[in-house]
Amino acid sequence: MNIYTFQHEEDFVETGANLIASLLLTNPKAVLGLATGSSPIGIYKRLIDMYRKGFISFSRASSYNLDEYVGLPAGHSESYRTFMDTQLFDHIDLPLAHSHIPNSNAQDLQEECRRYDRMLEDHGPVDLQLLGLGHNGHIGFNEPDTSLVGGTHVVELQEKTRTANARFFPSLDDVPRQAITMGVGSILKAKQIVLLVRGEEKAEIAKRALQGPITTDCPASLLQCHPNVVVLLDQEAGRLLT
Ligand code: F6R
Repeated sequence: MNIYTFQHEEDFVETGANLIASLLLTNPKAVLGLATGSSPIGIYKRLIDMYRKGFISFSRASSYNLDEYVGLPAGHSESYRTFMDTQLFDHIDLPLAHSHIPNSNAQDLQEECRRYDRMLEDHGPVDLQLLGLGHNGHIGFNEPDTSLVGGTHVVELQEKTRTANARFFPSLDDVPRQAITMGVGSILKAKQIVLLVRGEEKAEIAKRALQGPITTDCPASLLQCHPNVVVLLDQEAGRLLT
């Protein structure tokens, strides 16, 4: 793992955006694995800026998002589709048909999971997978458990995850209880993984994930097995790393 800790937010953002921009420059048809959450927002802003200046184009690229809540109607302000549209897709030239997010409003969620895996199989592997780190060590919505699932699946969100995400909803009760997520197997198939970790409250879990034992109890620790992981942390999140 290549671990970088940044003192300044703009360097964290610039480095993350440059990894994606240089991939697009060398491979305009790159398959991007994208994440929602607060960690990648600055990087998406910077990518929009690079696109507007004419440095990069997404016109031949494609994207696969990690996850989507179950139970929110299409167009809900907190759905991950809305998040991606407002934070990135509405502002770049990625064709709508090239951006993929699990459809949690599908009639048959199990079939939707199989469809998503078939797409990843047919059009993958993902060239660069962006990830955030959950407070409980989750990646995507793969929550800590005694075993983990390889492919895309429906997951029950743990209370810690729902509580962490309650800041985006009127109350904890409004936070969905389920999500569709890519599995750890699919995530680990990406050629390169870029893990983004920000904030003091992530310091302990970052230490466990990056320097603790590899265990399903901390799904992000499985990233230690991957041959090409770049970890970008801010100083607060990286403070316990040796
Ligand atoms: C988002 C996702 C989650 C988040 C994680 C960290 O698509 O899959 O795993 O990346 O919960 O969220 P933030 O970045 O808000 O701390």
